[in-house]
Amino acid sequence: MRHQVCIIGGGPSGLLLCLLLRRAGVDAIVLEQRSRAYVLGRIRAGVLEQGLVDILHHAGVGQRLAAEGFVHDGTLIVAHGRRVHIDFKALTGKTVTIYGQTEVTRDLYDALDAMGAPVLHEAEGVTIHGAETDAPYVTFTRGGQAQRIDCDYIAGCDGFHGVSRRTIPEALRQEFEHVYPFGWLGILSETPPLHHELVYAGHERGFALCSMRNANLSRHYLQVPLTDRVEDWTDETFWAELRRRLPPDLAEVLVTGPSIEKSIAPLRSFISEPMSWGRLFLAGDAAHIVPPTGAKGLNLAASDVWYLSQALIAQYQGDAAPLAGYSAQALARVWKASRFSWSMTRMLHSFPSEGPFLARMQAAEVDYLAGAPAAQTALAENYVGLPY
Ligand code: FAD
Ligand code: PHB
Repeated sequence: MRHQVCIIGGGPSGLLLCLLLRRAGVDAIVLEQRSRAYVLGRIRAGVLEQGLVDILHHAGVGQRLAAEGFVHDGTLIVAHGRRVHIDFKALTGKTVTIYGQTEVTRDLYDALDAMGAPVLHEAEGVTIHGAETDAPYVTFTRGGQAQRIDCDYIAGCDGFHGVSRRTIPEALRQEFEHVYPFGWLGILSETPPLHHELVYAGHERGFALCSMRNANLSRHYLQVPLTDRVEDWTDETFWAELRRRLPPDLAEVLVTGPSIEKSIAPLRSFISEPMSWGRLFLAGDAAHIVPPTGAKGLNLAASDVWYLSQALIAQYQGDAAPLAGYSAQALARVWKASRFSWSMTRMLHSFPSEGPFLARMQAAEVDYLAGAPAAQTALAENYVGLPY
């Protein structure tokens, strides 16, 4: 097979890149190691920046999002006895939209299907060859058959555990990593959201987040030790612990019910530089991971994909500069979003091993935030997404 761009990974990054390229007349193919049902079954992000919403409209997949997404003008932070309402709209003129990653993925699949775009699932043993040459190709097996795709460019959109990043020789890569000593236990339940906006709660027993997907679907998270397993938490113990971490008036109105999904994700900050090598370009989780506290993972994947799609389109129109500058351009935004995600994580989680000094610093930070419009504006600007 021959295609102009071979995209490895059929998560949101790979599917969105494929759609943007094909809409511009670039012949792209996606190779995904899992089944479509598996990809659609993963419950992940839920907050979309306006930038991502705009890209989805640009790509022609904004209809369901516009009809079913919920626009949020702000968020509530409750910590250290303070209640801080961050009014995104008043402070920045921008908003965010609540619409699950699963729904974004489904819309992307539907649009790709409608245009007959090739998305090959269950592609095993994907291997990148000759990325540093002018004739790269990718091999894999599918249904027992060995296959090869020759291409002009390869996009590594295969997430943190994918092969693309590791194809770049170690000597040419620099990795920056910070692993947090806890994870997030998340549950999905068919219950109404706690509040009309997301509630980020810092508590001495640990962080909690009350999020949502729609009027009768809630997504809640608890900070848990890395040693905890999902089996350690019944629905009852989850709800009881969540109640303890919320202010009494919110705890009182929390509606509980059986969980329909429960999982634990470890928290990590990770950035690999550069995001390109020869004709291989990384995007999304393949190049970086943020802790979810800033709701940035999916949004950062989208800004990478936007830069990369525009650079590849320019390349085919004879302008080589954007593709040559892709890694530096993407990394500038990645580092700022990583800083924000790290600072939100640092402000709102409990770090028992760091002692009482840090806890007092966190309290002072929240106290400052509560009284300083400048600090609220800085938080809001980052939360709604830095421009790109
Ligand atoms: P992925 O979604 O990881 O997609 C990569 C795809 O590549 C996958 O489909 C994978 O199967 C495929 N793949 C991997 N290896 C290969 C290979 N060798 N060959 C072919 N295909 C391959 N972000 C938030 O903002 N909020 C959240 O609450 C949140 N929760 C998360 C929970 C978990 C458990 C994880 C892992 C991430 C979470 N994120 C969250 C982050 C967000 O979901 C990611 O940033 C986003 O999915 C990145 O999209 P991606 O397409 O770059 O990577
Ligand atoms: C979610 O709804 O899954 C979600 C929302 C905000 C975050 C993280 C996760 O910061």
